[in-house]
Amino acid sequence: MQNFFIGLSSIHWREAWKYGERAFRYCQHDLGHALACLRYAAATLGWSIELCTEVGDDELAIILGLNRSQDFVALEHEAPDVLCRVRTQPDAKPLDYHALVSLAHTGHWQGKAYSLRAYHFYKWPVIDEVAHAAKKWSAPESTHTFMPMAMLPSSCQKSAAEIIRTRRSAQHFNKQVSPMRQDSFFRILSAVLPSAAVPFDSWPWSPRVNLLLFVHNVEGVDAGLYALVRQPQHLTELKAAMLTDFSWQCCHAELPFYQLIAGDFRMLAKKLSCHQAIASDSAFSLAMVAEFADVVAEQAWAYRRLYWECGMIGQVLYLEAEAEEWRGTGIGCYFDDAVHQILGLTDNRFQSLYHFTVGIPLEDQRLQTLPAYAHLS
Ligand SMILES: Cc1cc2nc3c(=O)[nH]c(=O)nc-3n(C[C@H](O)[C@H](O)[C@H](O)COP(=O)(O)O)c2cc1C
Repeated sequence: MQNFFIGLSSIHWREAWKYGERAFRYCQHDLGHALACLRYAAATLGWSIELCTEVGDDELAIILGLNRSQDFVALEHEAPDVLCRVRTQPDAKPLDYHALVSLAHTGHWQGKAYSLRAYHFYKWPVIDEVAHAAKKWSAPESTHTFMPMAMLPSSCQKSAAEIIRTRRSAQHFNKQVSPMRQDSFFRILSAVLPSAAVPFDSWPWSPRVNLLLFVHNVEGVDAGLYALVRQPQHLTELKAAMLTDFSWQCCHAELPFYQLIAGDFRMLAKKLSCHQAIASDSAFSLAMVAEFADVVAEQAWAYRRLYWECGMIGQVLYLEAEAEEWRGTGIGCYFDDAVHQILGLTDNRFQSLYHFTVGIPLEDQRLQTLPAYAHLS
């Protein structure tokens, strides 16, 4: 198999009809999930993935044919997001995307996008405004070095394919369950650190996102509020920006995992996640808190990338939870002002951008799951 490219794009309307203005960020979250999925899938084949950070949105639109507005239904246009270089052969010369731009100019385009057939009762002009403000220009970008940190071991015997194909979101959790094993908990946390392991080996930018965790039910870990500091340079700033009552007591020999304050925060976690019980009935739930104002001021399009990083972390949490026989759910609905208030954040140097929760699911017997790839097994 030759090396090849995969381009990713978003149709904001697909989310906007349901979620209104929040659609833009949900699309970016999804993009991060998709990037992690691609990286995991490539890894199962022994391939690697590199994000083409230098490609601008206009160039990507040309490559994917998304600049052909006549091919799309009004208000259902498709926004270019990112181009990935898939390497099936590590020694082959890296593909040059410029050739694709020339090909796209001279190529013969066919077909038109179907309408999603939703009624455009409401329009959300702010989505286009933010998309325009966060547009990516072509420019080379510097990359970063990884944390010299290995993932903690897992006792999981399942294959990657099995975990990937059976992953689902929990809709309800059973709170009357034994605590999560401590080794499972710390294994899951170690997997979201920006080490040189899959999928973060394909993440070319400096990590910006840290986790603030509400631990509810984990063996040997007191219930309370904790921080997993993925970016070591943020530790001092986070301590200075957050409540002075927090103890910042390091609780693990190998992980940057700190207890801030002990306590039962189930009800608080539920409130912060738009009153959703999945945030309180779990073993733990968390808020992803990103370095924000300076990053976005320096480069507006980094706004999108912050959500991608959160989505990628979310996908790792989904799969690692499954591997440990638990189950995750991404939580895009939460109250960020309230999160900031309980952490003591008074400005948006740090910003809460996504929530996640992991517990034991209560299966809804009315729902049936069929194998997604039956013809392949
Ligand atoms: C970015 C994102 C945000 C989500 N937010 C919520 C949420 O706030 N509440 C919830 O119950 N589920 C949430 N989910 C879970 C989705 O509802 C779920 O992924 C979707 O229904 C598809 O189901 P599946 O994950 O089982 O394939 C979210 C998922 C993603 C990826």
